[in-house]
Amino acid sequence: MPDWLKDTVFYEIYPQSFRDTNNDGIGDINGIIQKLDYIHDLGCNALWINPCYDSPFKDAGYDVRDYKKVAPRYGSNTDLYRLFGEAHNRGMHVLLDLVPGHTSEEHPWFLESQKAEKNEFSDRYVWTNAAFQGIGGHPYISGECPRDGSYMLNFFKCQPALNYGFLNRTEDWQMAPDAPACIATREALKDIMRFWMDHGCDGFRVDMADSLVKEDDEHKSATCQIWHNIRQMMDQEYPDAALVSEWSNPQQSLKAGFHMDFYLDHHGNGYNTLVRDGETPGGDHSFFLKNGHGDIMRFLKDYLPKYNATRKHGYISFLTCNHDTPRETRTLSTPELKLAYAFFFTMPGVPFLYYGDEIGMRYLDLPSKEGGYARTGTRTPMQWNHERNLGFSEANPDTLYLPVDSASDAPTVESSEKDPDSLLQAVKALLKLRHCEEDLQADAIFEVLYAEKERFPFVFRRGSLIIAVNPSGQEQSAPVTTEKKPIFTIGSVNTEHGKLTLAPQSFSVLK
Ligand code: NOJ
Repeated sequence: MPDWLKDTVFYEIYPQSFRDTNNDGIGDINGIIQKLDYIHDLGCNALWINPCYDSPFKDAGYDVRDYKKVAPRYGSNTDLYRLFGEAHNRGMHVLLDLVPGHTSEEHPWFLESQKAEKNEFSDRYVWTNAAFQGIGGHPYISGECPRDGSYMLNFFKCQPALNYGFLNRTEDWQMAPDAPACIATREALKDIMRFWMDHGCDGFRVDMADSLVKEDDEHKSATCQIWHNIRQMMDQEYPDAALVSEWSNPQQSLKAGFHMDFYLDHHGNGYNTLVRDGETPGGDHSFFLKNGHGDIMRFLKDYLPKYNATRKHGYISFLTCNHDTPRETRTLSTPELKLAYAFFFTMPGVPFLYYGDEIGMRYLDLPSKEGGYARTGTRTPMQWNHERNLGFSEANPDTLYLPVDSASDAPTVESSEKDPDSLLQAVKALLKLRHCEEDLQADAIFEVLYAEKERFPFVFRRGSLIIAVNPSGQEQSAPVTTEKKPIFTIGSVNTEHGKLTLAPQSFSVLK
């Protein structure tokens, strides 16, 4: 386990939309370098950058055409190497995005694979034996290529599935996970990883990490074996590099070798009950809403078994949002968000903050861009100040990658820095506290002290600290006696009369 993860808070950067330094309307690597001090000052000491590789951008870069080349619109490989160095100079780490399950249909491997003549890459992707033979249960394409076969898709039409084999095989074109061609795919992936780590990258966020071997068993045992093998390579050659999975099943992913696993917004899961419960019939019962309809037991029922089963293996990562989900400002107000973030940043594991969430950027209703569809509204340019394009770019506003928020009260870093009550100030204070108190960082034990069905507050322990949160609009007490004193409070807290009382919408850390 890389030691640096113990006290790390990640900042996710969507490179298209962070900072444009060459005025072409789209963000670039130099823009990220320019803003490293801002990110560091915010309290984030590591970055995850969405795919910044050469791509036709039919899925915003998740359709990779060349894994080893920075997309010209973001700059050059040299710029990215410089970013690694500049981050390291500030004690920060940088994860790139690794897309192991598919490439772009324009990747040279695929261009070879789809040829009628057999070649080195014929089995790099999943193909049937004839164009008239389909693939049951998976999306596929036929009739587009010289090769007489259909090929499997992993996501969009532009993303053919790489071949890691099938565990349970029912067709003769399906290969075993240990077939030489499937091992070659895995080794090609390692080659890409080594390339970037040799140039200073500190690890990877892994896209759809559970999707490698097809017709895997319910434990994903064959896919897990691949990650075990990759982790072995990392432990031997790059022991300080880290891997975080897009999997959301820590019992599988952390035991397979990932250091961290995202707690994603899956319908009805524990994470969603906290901040994204809008799809449940009967209205939004998110725990952090002031309406007080939430139930912390719904969260704990999902989270505790995951935490207890995996805390010795790795970390569960709470996210404020990501590039695939609507920003939480869509349903939560600033006071509600402060409490939700306070919770995320004081829980065990390694948290991730999505760019712009620290100032409460809004979800915008926009037409789809580069395969974004409903996700597009979460990917708009970062709002730095009230200058042209809110400080994102000097370009003509009509030429921007996506429009900036045109609301007259669009939050910016500049306005938030001036407002002592802003979300940004709360985030900074929380992250500063987390870096000062080891018991708020990744490892300290989490234990429930008071949690009752549909009741508030929720009180828990992290190491020797007590943390209490009352998102509801009423004063609430818990039968928790303590001599500890508040070291950080939003709202107000009282420990008199043998109970712990929190004012409406309050949060406190007691030491
Ligand atoms: C998950 C990524 O987060 C998403 O943005 C992408 O479209 C799919 N995987 C396909 O790579």
